[in-house]
Amino acid sequence: MYHKLMLKIFVTRKIPEAGINKLKNAGYEVEVNPEDKVLAKDELISYLKNGKYDAVLALLTDKLDADVFEAAGAQCKIFANMAVGFDNVDIEASKKAGIMIANTPGVLTDTVAEHTFALMLAIAHRVAEADRFARAGKYHGWEPMMLLGTDLSYKTIGILGLGRIGSRVAYHAVKGFNAKAIYYDVNRNEEFEKEFLDSTGSPQAAFRTTPEEVLREADFVSIHVPLLPSTRHLINAERLKIMKPTAYLVNTSRGPVIDEKALAEALQNKIIKGAAIDVFENEPAIEPLLLKLDNIILTPHIASATEATRDKMAELAAENIISALSGKEPPNLVK
Ligand code: GLV
Repeated sequence: MYHKLMLKIFVTRKIPEAGINKLKNAGYEVEVNPEDKVLAKDELISYLKNGKYDAVLALLTDKLDADVFEAAGAQCKIFANMAVGFDNVDIEASKKAGIMIANTPGVLTDTVAEHTFALMLAIAHRVAEADRFARAGKYHGWEPMMLLGTDLSYKTIGILGLGRIGSRVAYHAVKGFNAKAIYYDVNRNEEFEKEFLDSTGSPQAAFRTTPEEVLREADFVSIHVPLLPSTRHLINAERLKIMKPTAYLVNTSRGPVIDEKALAEALQNKIIKGAAIDVFENEPAIEPLLLKLDNIILTPHIASATEATRDKMAELAAENIISALSGKEPPNLVK
């Protein structure tokens, strides 16, 4: 009797079952890295060489380059990255190898925007610092001058990068906090601006032609650009100096967009008031000076980490694989 050979998928690390089940229900054999850790490049290569997989579900912690694609071999159609960012992938090399790359945009927009506000509010209201204070037994009763913070309402929120997440942050800032949003992006979005005119017709979400203008005016600056050669160290020592000394910087995009040493020095020297960042220049390492400062909040790259959103990301990565292996264009093909 003829048995159709089962197509094989490699998953580089344990992910939510929702994604694995989707692949299994589509009739594929799924092999997951049995150790719950990032595979070093040589380990990933040896899995791929020995397994001869038809697709790989990969993570942003996997560096996907020409050597990896070569090891994957000609039968491998797609690497589906379970992340919206794909700066871990050498796209040119994937094209040369004839391998498709997909990402998971859209499903994490609300969650990352929420985490951005969690950080913005936490640094402005000194939440982490106050928690440390209370746990250290320093709270001896209400005080009129204790742990005074800063309001977000009615302030100017500067957005660098008005993609899906940046737009959602601007939306919440204007609609939820009566703030004014100003943004810089390589592409101006006039349609977006039209949605934010107040009753007098004055714009509540306005374009600025340079990042400097945003940095100069904003009370809070939130970064939402992809990591590209042009956005590496977008925030450096010179640009930090342009910001108001009362301003806060928030980053939920990619760590290398900020010169982390320059940020630590700016925070130590009170060039800006505070920062809250979810991503780091050399993950998982964190610039040691940042760990000593009270005017920064650090979260370990968890902006998309809610149960529901991680399920959706895993499912979407699986859907991209299923489409590719069915001869269709994956819904989130990176072109
Ligand atoms: C997370 O950082 C992602 O790119 O999805």
